Amino acid sequence: MPSDVGASFDGRLQRQAQWLDRYRPGLRVVEQGSVVAVGDGIAWIAGLPSAAMDDILDFADGSQAMVFDLTEGLIGAVLLRDTDALTAGTRVQRTGRTLSIPAGDALLGRCVDPLGTPLDDGPPLAHTRWQPLETGSPPIVARDFVRKPLYTGIKIIDTMIPIGRGQRQLLIGDEGLGRSSIALDTVINQRGQDVLCVYVLIGQKRSSVAGTIATLRAYGALEFTTVVVAEASRLPGLQHLAPFAGCAVAEFWMQQGRDVLVVYDDLSTHARTYRELSLLLHRPPGREAYPGDIFSVHARLLERATCLNAARGGGSMTALPIVETQLGEIAAYIPTNLISITDGQVYLDRALFSGGFRPAIDIGRSVSRIGGQAQHPRISEEAGRMKLDYLQYQELEVFTRFGARLEASMETAIRRGRLLREILKQERLAPLPVAFQMAWLVAFNDGLFDGRDSDQIPNLLAALEQRVRDAAPGLEEPREAWSKAVAGWLPAPDRAASAAPADPA
Ligand SMILES: Nc1ncnc2c1ncn2[C@@H]1O[C@H](COP(=O)(O)OP(=O)(O)OP(=O)(O)O)[C@@H](O)[C@H]1O
Ligand SMILES: [Mg+2]
Repeated sequence: MPSDVGASFDGRLQRQAQWLDRYRPGLRVVEQGSVVAVGDGIAWIAGLPSAAMDDILDFADGSQAMVFDLTEGLIGAVLLRDTDALTAGTRVQRTGRTLSIPAGDALLGRCVDPLGTPLDDGPPLAHTRWQPLETGSPPIVARDFVRKPLYTGIKIIDTMIPIGRGQRQLLIGDEGLGRSSIALDTVINQRGQDVLCVYVLIGQKRSSVAGTIATLRAYGALEFTTVVVAEASRLPGLQHLAPFAGCAVAEFWMQQGRDVLVVYDDLSTHARTYRELSLLLHRPPGREAYPGDIFSVHARLLERATCLNAARGGGSMTALPIVETQLGEIAAYIPTNLISITDGQVYLDRALFSGGFRPAIDIGRSVSRIGGQAQHPRISEEAGRMKLDYLQYQELEVFTRFGARLEASMETAIRRGRLLREILKQERLAPLPVAFQMAWLVAFNDGLFDGRDSDQIPNLLAALEQRVRDAAPGLEEPREAWSKAVAGWLPAPDRAASAAPADPA
């Protein structure tokens, strides 16, 4: 036997002897519970007197659950993992832990479930830290004003409903009106903006989940994004935890001083799952059968999105929660709750969508309460002028329906408004740089679109976009510089030989 192997063997013997010397026999109390009933994603457990809310419980068959309800003698727990062997009588132990999820840059480009288990075929997560799913929101003294813009790349939002880093902006509307498209565009537009993204998909079909991930990958956005998924077929407990898991991943980066964008798609499904769990756990139903604490659940989640001050690293978490309305009813329980928790909303309207105005954002019913402070003053000034024209057009448009004869000035305003409406249309998955927003605003305010036919607008905009991407003045440059540049790119119709735009080459 070589001498170093002998030495290590001696060392081990010595350590074991020391351990035996120190060993004192004693009693250790371990609480042992057992399952009384199980079904629909929840388990009732008896016999764990020191269990507390949110405790993680391990079952003898390998299942796992989280304490969700404490009643006299019985614990209601939501299952996080289950096996076919889970039945009444299965033994249960406390772990003394609460839930946390791996966080850090290893999660970029990955797709995980709310427990942090990878759902893609990538390598196991080499994480450095675990982040708790439930924590308090940052105190007031840790917060700063929202000062930096977060560009969505969508014309209507970046000009008239601007969003700032650290803001919570609700995307609200009936199903199928393009809410997810706006969120996806915003994530895609963060390319090169030094913003990390978390996209949370709650209770969606596998095909939509696959579609979202494929789109993110195709547009090069997956590399700075983490997708947190709890599909419709997963346990309701996991669907309930998904937004909190996504928030925890984002929070880790925010605490590191990074800017993060998190999308919750969507919180209506989340609220329904929470209602299901609450009713199964015999909690008293309130309005629309939702439990009374659904407001605090959503407020707790969204209050964690904020902009931290410089002393805390200056990171930010911008949240885009999505909520669904039925027949445009924004006064329903969950939508009103979320409207009151967030800093503004982008409202999508079915009539606009059917009329071909997409993204179908109703400017009159959308608002951003704090984003204006973060908007670039140049854009804000130009957008203000443009918005007045748009609102005036909306008022006047009513008269055109009666076929009334209008004054010439009103006719002009209506014609201008119609063109503006054409300009504001935007395809999905085509976010635009902020310099382009400035360019079209200046062009519109300088009247360079006046006198054109609406079907020329897409071509004119495409040419303008190409020119802006090639060379555009900085936002800081004086307005005259912009005015001159834009007039060169988009000759006024009377000066142009034809209505077609100048060749960008
Ligand atoms: N800007 C747009 N231009 C053209 N079509 C659009 C635009 N935005 C969305 N759409 C179309 O509208 C449909 C619904 O979009 P999306 O899935 O984003 O809506 P949603 O509100 O998230 O719907 P769901 O209720 O299914 O979640 C899609 O078929 C999409 O192609
Ligand atoms: Mg959607």
